[in-house]
Amino acid sequence: MRENILVLDFGGQYNQLIARRVRELNCYCEVHPYNMPVEEIKAMAPSGIIFTGGPSNVLDEDSPKCDMELFELGIPVLGICYGAQLMNYMLGGKVASAPTREYGRTEVQVNNNSVLFEGVNETTVCWMSHTVYIAEAAPGFEVTAKTDVCPVAGAQNTGRGLYCVQFHPEVVHTVEGTKILSNFVRKVCKCKCTWKMDSFVETSIKDIREKVGSGRVLCALSGGVDSSVAAVLLSKAVGKQLTCVFVDHGLLRKNEGDEVEAVFGPNGPYELNFIRVNAQERFLGKLAGVTEPETKRKIIGEEFIRVFEEEAKKIGAVDFLVQGTIYPDVIESGLGKSAVIKSHHNVGGLPDYVDFKEIIEPLRLLFKDEVRKAGLELGIPENLVFRQPFPGPGLAIRIVGEITAEKVRIVQDADAIFRQEMALAGFDKYANQYFAALSNMRSVGCMGDERTYDYACILRAVTTTDFMTAEAAELPWSLISRVTSRIVNEVKGINRVMYDCTGKPPATVELE
Ligand code: XMP
Repeated sequence: MRENILVLDFGGQYNQLIARRVRELNCYCEVHPYNMPVEEIKAMAPSGIIFTGGPSNVLDEDSPKCDMELFELGIPVLGICYGAQLMNYMLGGKVASAPTREYGRTEVQVNNNSVLFEGVNETTVCWMSHTVYIAEAAPGFEVTAKTDVCPVAGAQNTGRGLYCVQFHPEVVHTVEGTKILSNFVRKVCKCKCTWKMDSFVETSIKDIREKVGSGRVLCALSGGVDSSVAAVLLSKAVGKQLTCVFVDHGLLRKNEGDEVEAVFGPNGPYELNFIRVNAQERFLGKLAGVTEPETKRKIIGEEFIRVFEEEAKKIGAVDFLVQGTIYPDVIESGLGKSAVIKSHHNVGGLPDYVDFKEIIEPLRLLFKDEVRKAGLELGIPENLVFRQPFPGPGLAIRIVGEITAEKVRIVQDADAIFRQEMALAGFDKYANQYFAALSNMRSVGCMGDERTYDYACILRAVTTTDFMTAEAAELPWSLISRVTSRIVNEVKGINRVMYDCTGKPPATVELE
């Protein structure tokens, strides 16, 4: 049985981060809902279990609880925040409302003779976020950490292999968090930590070959990181048995369609069958007159599927369909999905009626940064591997209001200038996503002696780790002003440039 850590998700916002941190320690790790049946857990035989934090109050009757049997399996358990409170509460400790809420960086005193805190400074800074706390540890537990507010910021019952911390070791603000998680994984769970990306690539290629045999494989390629890495992995495994269909909806960044073709097409380094469908007019036709953001998204998603199906029909029956699904798409929170702000259907997903027998999702267990690592391991060019995220509906959701060919051209040109200047100024690595968008506002300007009545372009650049929240990037004024003057001078149709200073929330990264 391979080493693995099971993260049981109680709805905490950092659930995926815990799994990533464990994987960074080269230990394989999966996230499952808190109510995963004990029988399944036993079958999985994890080396250790981590309970995440969560938004609920353990004192509420209907708050999520775990099966008592989990504490009896002889598998070490680490409870974090809500998970810590739950463990103590269920085992007979006392949880109560804290006299003061602790939020943010907090000094914690730890007993570094305890295994979890081995090698950690006696006073260390941790990230706290809680309103209830463990007032008394459960019987049999020994307190291993405390703060001015929390009498039990950490506790252990080494005999039963149970450990807990009130703070979040997984976030970077907990200065020695990695050490603490490493102590749990290596010293408590006795993991050797040998999980690596090269072994992932090698094993995947072998598994895919075995699975596919002499079958035919179809892949929808968008040019984005995930589908590109999936396609290369498949092409290395089964070569010409793979056909990639690239639907160019004409809403890509400037020259992007040609760039994708250069890498995956007949003159590129890979041996696969590549079909490019130039469908700009078809998509623009469907989008004519449409202004409502969700309608735009739906039209593009549906049209994409239609085009893809038509191509698939020409190819005939295939045995396997490849999808670039990655782990964050797979993980279902223990507490169910949160509100839908936008329908993030990935163009390239969901063809319902294509004739195939089975889906292959070679990246379904990887996080984004791991997909990139796999991409590098596969020899995919860095500019492709580190390409910034680009939404499936493309420029359609960066053009506020109706989409026309002319507006697409305008936003492509402005965006190309912005990206070029960001790279020249060395800010392309600082901002995690940046692009030009087109507002629906026209305003009066003067160029030479002429009056203009043109569109306003919006520059958007954000810093973020997970794209769930984001901050407007603080770009130097000299850079913004250089981009501004280049755009107004070089892009016909724009006479005004604005910088979007809004974070997420309250805004979103994309404009629609
Ligand atoms: P928002 O605008 O929701 O974007 O703050 C967060 C991140 O998701 C990307 N995004 C999409 N990605 N299909 C995608 O594959 C979509 O429909 C989609 N919409 C937004 C966006 O670029 C940002 O990185």
